[in-house]
Amino acid sequence: LMKSMDALVSLCKRRGFLFQSSEIYGGVQGFWDYGPLGVELKRNLKDAWWHDMISGHNELVSPAGAPSTFEMVGLDCTIIMHPQVWKCSGHYDLFHDHMVDCRESKKRYRFDQVRGRFVEYQGTKIFVSTLAEIEQEEDEVRRRGMKFFKLRPKNADELTVEKESLTLDKLDSTDNVLAPDAKTLGTLTEPREFNLMFKTTLGALGGEEDTTFLRPETAQGIFVNFKNVVDSSRVRIPFGIGQVGKSFRNEITPRNFTFRSREFEQMEIEFFCHPNQSQEWYRYWRDRRMAWYTKLGLSSESLIMREHHTEELAHYSVGTADIEYAFPFLPEGEYGELEGIAHRGDFDLRSHMEGKLDPATNPMTVELNEHGKPKHRGSGKDLAYRDDITNEKFVPHVIEPSAGADRAALAFLCEAYTEDEAPDENGKMQTRTVMKLDPRLAPIKAAVFPLVKKDGMPEVAQEIYGALKEHYNVFYDAKGAVGRRYRRQDEAGTPYCITVDGDSLTDKTVTIRDRDTLEQTRVKIDDVISEIQSRMKA
Ligand code: GAP
Repeated sequence: LMKSMDALVSLCKRRGFLFQSSEIYGGVQGFWDYGPLGVELKRNLKDAWWHDMISGHNELVSPAGAPSTFEMVGLDCTIIMHPQVWKCSGHYDLFHDHMVDCRESKKRYRFDQVRGRFVEYQGTKIFVSTLAEIEQEEDEVRRRGMKFFKLRPKNADELTVEKESLTLDKLDSTDNVLAPDAKTLGTLTEPREFNLMFKTTLGALGGEEDTTFLRPETAQGIFVNFKNVVDSSRVRIPFGIGQVGKSFRNEITPRNFTFRSREFEQMEIEFFCHPNQSQEWYRYWRDRRMAWYTKLGLSSESLIMREHHTEELAHYSVGTADIEYAFPFLPEGEYGELEGIAHRGDFDLRSHMEGKLDPATNPMTVELNEHGKPKHRGSGKDLAYRDDITNEKFVPHVIEPSAGADRAALAFLCEAYTEDEAPDENGKMQTRTVMKLDPRLAPIKAAVFPLVKKDGMPEVAQEIYGALKEHYNVFYDAKGAVGRRYRRQDEAGTPYCITVDGDSLTDKTVTIRDRDTLEQTRVKIDDVISEIQSRMKA
């Protein structure tokens, strides 16, 4: 499995899906750039989400399984917000990582907020793919006097020339082993605390009061605009607001390729409903979001829906289910989170109205400062909703399907990566690498080739290319043996290759080669666009 992950990382770099950020300077851990193919893949993924969840949603028809019809609208909020937002959301006080080291065993433990206890950094194979990552891992191991096997190039050049990925056998923070309780842990170093939010400063003066944060989730932009959306559009409860955008978390252990990055994109929905109906909507969104992944090509054997236990729930949540995927870098039988679907109750709206929720003393309390004034005050704005038909006034409950665009892109890349056999020019079977991406996600939808660069074939091919380009991202390639051109497109995940050959000039037909079945069919040049269109829809 690790071998295929190495091969995938290598393909991603070779073909231009993903690059390490600032690579020529040695990279920065936890930051990734999408190359020419990667940017198309991720854009297609976000567009599919936006279309399927927001813009393509028909509010006159209830989708299968939905308790009623509903509306969906979108928002695009800023990354930097009023600092009070993060106090009310709980991120300022609760979004921390704590770490302790055991002096005797040299083991390291991380405090898991969600589970409310220390979890061990577990020893397992980890996957690193940049020189910066390797260096950080090595420093860490040295500092803690531990041993590990390494596979390390002497310099950065060698790393890029030889292989884009390396495997280290050492400690990992898969975080899934619960530590023994504090009494049996031995002598611990003082816990060190990290807030996961990136700090930044507003304006030129930069005093403490000008400190604010890069958003760690897109969700809060939606909550603070709830009233604006209700007042400016005609939405009625139940309805959802979606947002796609960057979020930032100063993760202590960014790793596993893009899986845990420090800058990433989220695709989030906050679905507002009547408290009496919230459980039904929770179930609806769980099932609908799961179906979305399988429809776009993740195999259902590699996906699980995991309901959180009560003690695992985040501070705001009264119920959460994670959609998890069997990423190939995880040990056999383990899954990594793709998306969380949380029942957040009325926590966020109430918090932005009234103040911070004290998790220990639920219900809502407002902490007082030394002057007896509220310490963390909400906005004081009334964010309750009044139903204009029943006249009932209530604070809506929220169901939140929260997905990561980069994680989903990684899952689709892992799923798509396939090695099979295909005949070469001489009909001999050869191993081929092919990215079996759903046509909706594929960066390039079709490639057009003239078989040879003469006899008028390029002219015909260019005409087909120009006509298709109006509808899709298509690629023209006249260089080298046609077999090699096919293999290049297989690695890019291009579902259809259109070849203009000698016969095309007389009978006005071309071949369309299917990436997965390798079947070649002759189609009239005039029918190429409609043929590609109908195959894309199938
Ligand atoms: N608003 C709720 C929220 O943000 P979350 O479970 O912390 O919930 C939601 O994040 C999703 O965002 C995750 O399921 C994952 O897909 C993505 N995500 C979170 N942290 C990430 C990271 N460091 N790198 C990449 N994706 C991340």
